[in-house]
Amino acid sequence: MKSDEMRLFQERVAALRVNPAAIESIRIHGTNGGVIQNAKGKKASIQIYTSIASNDGYINAEGAKKGLEVYGNLLREETKKSPGMHPEIEKLENIARSKQAVRCDIIRHESCKPVPERIMKALPEALRKYPTPFYIYDEQGIRETAGAYKKAFAWVKPGYRNYFAVKACPNPHIVNILKGEGFGADCSSLPELVIAEKLGLRGEEIIFTSNDTPAEEYVKAKKLGAIINLDDTSHIGYLDKNAGMPELICFRYNPGPLRKGNDIIGDPREAKYGVTTGQIQGAYIKAMELGAERFGLHTMVVSNMLDEQYLVETAVMLFKLAAMINHDTGINFDFINLGGGFGIPYKPEQAVIDLDKVSAGIRSAYKKYIRDMDLSPVRIVTECGRAITGPHGFLVSKVRHVSRKYKEFVGLDACMANLMRPALYGAYHHITVLGKENKPKDHVYDVTGSLCENNDKFAVNRPLPAVVPGDVLIIHDAGAHGYAMGFQYNGKLRCAELLAASGGKVRQIRRAEVMDDYLGTIENWP
Ligand SMILES: Cc1ncc(COP(=O)(O)O)c(C=O)c1O
Repeated sequence: MKSDEMRLFQERVAALRVNPAAIESIRIHGTNGGVIQNAKGKKASIQIYTSIASNDGYINAEGAKKGLEVYGNLLREETKKSPGMHPEIEKLENIARSKQAVRCDIIRHESCKPVPERIMKALPEALRKYPTPFYIYDEQGIRETAGAYKKAFAWVKPGYRNYFAVKACPNPHIVNILKGEGFGADCSSLPELVIAEKLGLRGEEIIFTSNDTPAEEYVKAKKLGAIINLDDTSHIGYLDKNAGMPELICFRYNPGPLRKGNDIIGDPREAKYGVTTGQIQGAYIKAMELGAERFGLHTMVVSNMLDEQYLVETAVMLFKLAAMINHDTGINFDFINLGGGFGIPYKPEQAVIDLDKVSAGIRSAYKKYIRDMDLSPVRIVTECGRAITGPHGFLVSKVRHVSRKYKEFVGLDACMANLMRPALYGAYHHITVLGKENKPKDHVYDVTGSLCENNDKFAVNRPLPAVVPGDVLIIHDAGAHGYAMGFQYNGKLRCAELLAASGGKVRQIRRAEVMDDYLGTIENWP
């Protein structure tokens, strides 16, 4: 390959953002089968295959075509002329032509996603004292991540604050840790407002971002002096009538076709959230007429976004919009809220967001659209949840049964009622088998719970070491939108939450539910 073609190829591979060091090998099943070992000369293939395999271990024709686009025409031509020269490409050519998806095990190195040492130290005591399943959170890890966010945005002289999205991990002990780090609370409901209130968060330390909101929640938010973030133009009059227009008001902007959204949050045009481009200016004018004097602007268009550039583009979009609204209406913005949605690397091969890169991009946009346009001082606000606590929470569960049917199953004492993301979105959560970190991953299991639902699975077709009843499985990155999404279907009771505290002690911060929690709401019953 010529050097400029090689450079292009390497750029395309790098854009996949797959760290090849995290992958040991790839096992391709079926007639087309074979193993790609992560050896010299195979790194690009490893990256390409890993990026197109689904979380349940399949490559389909569409994925194969995407993979072939990365390989580029040159290599495809070469392999056509000299069959056998690039077997991985030939395999992809075959999959691209085939109607059936091909099973493909991505064998990941455990060392690229180890359970943090603090959790490893806390686990023996936790397992001795508390029955599984339980969640365990790493306090020091949460504090360090909070510190990294504050540091990254320290350049925002008018002020930066992350309002922790309480919905991500609504345990008051966790929210309190973040209060101690100077974070506010982003609340979406009355109970979340009450958590913030009881923790002593006051006034503009709370943002209330809700949708389809009942009047009593606006009344409570107004009483607390929280920043109210309106989701719809019809709520302007509704808020005014029921709670009174506050002095400070914010609107959630939905850019519709101007942004793409992503798989979890969807196309903004289909989203139920926010005020449209055509409505936004009128919304501020109406709020102003009803007495609002200070203003914020907010959006939330993506979830779990790892692409730094996309996060910067969201800021650019909001800064430009603020400048335009200022130009047309004379409104000065107190703050711009870039939303949550900063992603975390659920997979060992993914890289953590480069916060410095995000921060630098936002800084230069801030200079261009806010400072140089004389709009400053404008504070910057985020409402990240997942990025703050996600990597620091683990669901710990024991194996009850191992069974072999048409495939092999590992049945846990946790189920999707404890962690719903894999069943809800097909999300990948890495699983470590405690004490077997260095064993070969020579089995492929579906890791299931005990619900009467066949999608009650934490992982499908997951390469793991041989597992036996009693083994402890640690499900990673469960610290956000994990416990919080729990439910009681099939009479499954919610489990306990533990804190591996900074001093090294393990504390229970929420007990497990008992039968009375489940049956206690029923009327006229023995
Ligand atoms: C309005 C709003 N803000 C913030 C968040 C937090 O998102 P994340 O935890 O992905 O940062 C959410 C998540 O659903 C949200 O709906």
